[in-house]
Amino acid sequence: MSKRRILVTAALPYANGPIHLGHLVEYIQTDIWVRFQKLRGHNCVFMCADDTHGTAIMIRARNEGRSEEEVIAEASEDHQRDFAGFHISFDNYGSTHSEENREICGEIWNSIRQAGLVTEKDVEQLFDAEQGTFLADRFVRGTCPNCKAEDQPGDNCSKCGTTYGTADLIDPVSTLSGTKPEVRTAKHLFIELEQLHNFLDEWTQSGDHLQPEVANYLKGHFLGVPDSEEGSKPLRDWDISRPAPYFGFEIPDSPGNYWYVWFDAPIGYIASTKQWCEKNGENLADWWRSDDTEIHHFLGKDITYFHTLFWPGMLKSAGFSLPTKVHIHGFLTVNGEKMSKSKGTFVKASTYLKHLDPSALRYFYASKLGSRLDDIDMNLEEFTAKVNSDLVGKVVNLASRSAKFVKDTGLSATYPDDGGLFEYAANTGDQIADAYENCEYSRAMRLILELADRANPFVENAAPWTIKKDPGRASELQDVCTVALNLFRQLVIYLAPVIPDLATKTGALLNSPIENWEQSKTPLVGTSVAKFKHMMKRIELKEIDAMVEETKAEQAAEEALENAPAELAAVLEKYGDSDVPLKDEPLAEECTIDDFIKVDLRIARVVKAEHVEQARKLLKLTLSLGGDNQRQVFAGIKAAYQPEDLEGRLVVMVANLKPRQMKFGLSEGMVCASGAGGEDVFLLSPDKGAVPGQRVH
Ligand code: MSP
Ligand code: ZN
Repeated sequence: MSKRRILVTAALPYANGPIHLGHLVEYIQTDIWVRFQKLRGHNCVFMCADDTHGTAIMIRARNEGRSEEEVIAEASEDHQRDFAGFHISFDNYGSTHSEENREICGEIWNSIRQAGLVTEKDVEQLFDAEQGTFLADRFVRGTCPNCKAEDQPGDNCSKCGTTYGTADLIDPVSTLSGTKPEVRTAKHLFIELEQLHNFLDEWTQSGDHLQPEVANYLKGHFLGVPDSEEGSKPLRDWDISRPAPYFGFEIPDSPGNYWYVWFDAPIGYIASTKQWCEKNGENLADWWRSDDTEIHHFLGKDITYFHTLFWPGMLKSAGFSLPTKVHIHGFLTVNGEKMSKSKGTFVKASTYLKHLDPSALRYFYASKLGSRLDDIDMNLEEFTAKVNSDLVGKVVNLASRSAKFVKDTGLSATYPDDGGLFEYAANTGDQIADAYENCEYSRAMRLILELADRANPFVENAAPWTIKKDPGRASELQDVCTVALNLFRQLVIYLAPVIPDLATKTGALLNSPIENWEQSKTPLVGTSVAKFKHMMKRIELKEIDAMVEETKAEQAAEEALENAPAELAAVLEKYGDSDVPLKDEPLAEECTIDDFIKVDLRIARVVKAEHVEQARKLLKLTLSLGGDNQRQVFAGIKAAYQPEDLEGRLVVMVANLKPRQMKFGLSEGMVCASGAGGEDVFLLSPDKGAVPGQRVH
């Protein structure tokens, strides 16, 4: 078998949100494929990055009174921590907001210009004058021009299903400021995709690069069928620029315009590879401009269009290699339904990890994944049952029932007669490998479990725990356990792409690290056996319940913050922002005393105030609520106050705010202030006589 050079990518997660179980379908699936290729001895690398640009990040940064760079740095840390927690192992994790990416975007852009694919057109778009920004569809709501239903999204009506342009909405309202947006015209740049029609027809329909259902979908919806009655459909021009303000890269030859996030995002695959090449003395051209390298993209069905039409078009125009294969997967449902925040099934990666073993999810997803685009369902009871019966009951059990009997003797010096079990399983290896290669993991898991079903009766019948009682049968005991542990190890090698943690533990138990697929062909003999340590434990239903309950609680806390009366929310969230002056704040929606009482305001004394290195707007405050009850709060008041002037003074703080992990540390509350932000911030203080800890009513 010759060594292949393989570059693999998973879609770049958006920096504006946490990783959740839905994302993990993709990252686990891809990681399994990469680990499989590495185990087979191929030269395979796994590239990913955060997708950082666009309006959503810009708005979030404004609302949180931080720079976009701060927001994306925190997201990148969180994402990488979550991925590592699930044993997802990238060779490089970059960012689309990197110099490498800016440079390669420029290079590809020049090629596309030179190929004569770029045109300019005026586009009418809604503009929020108060926030000073053009509004993406999802930031506008209004009355449907067709059925007149009120409060509908900016692009299509949820009542009658009509799609329309935001400019056609009746009485549009910006969701950012609540004001009525203006229609403004701006110049946008477009790529004339139609010029690449023939190439895209050929590439998408060749049968090699896409799953058949994807190729058919593209033909039916976008490309058309050249010789049919309908004929070929022209591809629409692709709007790839956005006018300022926009968080992204400014287009070098079109000042004031930025590349649309979906232009620079996939280029992030190349930029991440470039970073890796620089760190590892490799040559980028060997990976992105060489026929000897396979390129495999993994992604979800929602972003098919970008990766099967735009992206090949961009690569082709700029002379980069085209993807060898685009592997597209379906969406995760939980208990048969879309993940739901209110039902507690919109589980974040970090919440899962507080309650359950990452290996359990990796195995469960593997047992569900095929090569098609079907959605995959995570029924929580099935998840529990499957992990417990397959992994704990059938696989790990082989070791836990035999390892302890050979702790002192080690494995037999020659492999005993096992009635052909090992050889049979060794011969199944090619089929299992074939299933992995073709992303038919559920088939691979079935084949492996069938082998476990052959191994278990052997241990059952040989009953080492009975042999153990007879000192005269010591060598028989060693032989039986040698067989059991070898059959176990063989399964673990086959499972290693899915459960790397089990492979590591097994390597330690048998004093022989699991490093390549070929090890499944030869029994291990004569090695010492370490003391058996527990490898995987059963999932308890109460752990699942706790995870679901915690997810619901997180959701409730978020809603409480979002629904806090607008004026209070403005104090809470906006006072640290110097970019967006608050105008006359409209009075917030009426609230009841019960709403108000939810916010626990307390008098606090500033015990310590310090600068935070690297933070442009924040001061770190240590607040005392009386006694030794102290809180640490990061407040965006740096431009308005000197730390030494604050120490000792009394302030009003929100004391029951959910603590928030910020880049610089945990923030355990907020201080109240008025003002527009920046230098214009006025901390609230109580009158003489108030003492720290007192509640403010
Ligand atoms: N940033 C874009 C991708 C840019 S690639 C150049 C994006 N980000 S995402 O965070 O929304 O999604 C990342 C990947 O996770 C996508 O491939 C998406 O399909 C996948 N999934 C997100 N939610 C999912 C489920 N609920 N189920 C399965 N996959 C899901 O799209
Ligand atoms: Zn309508």
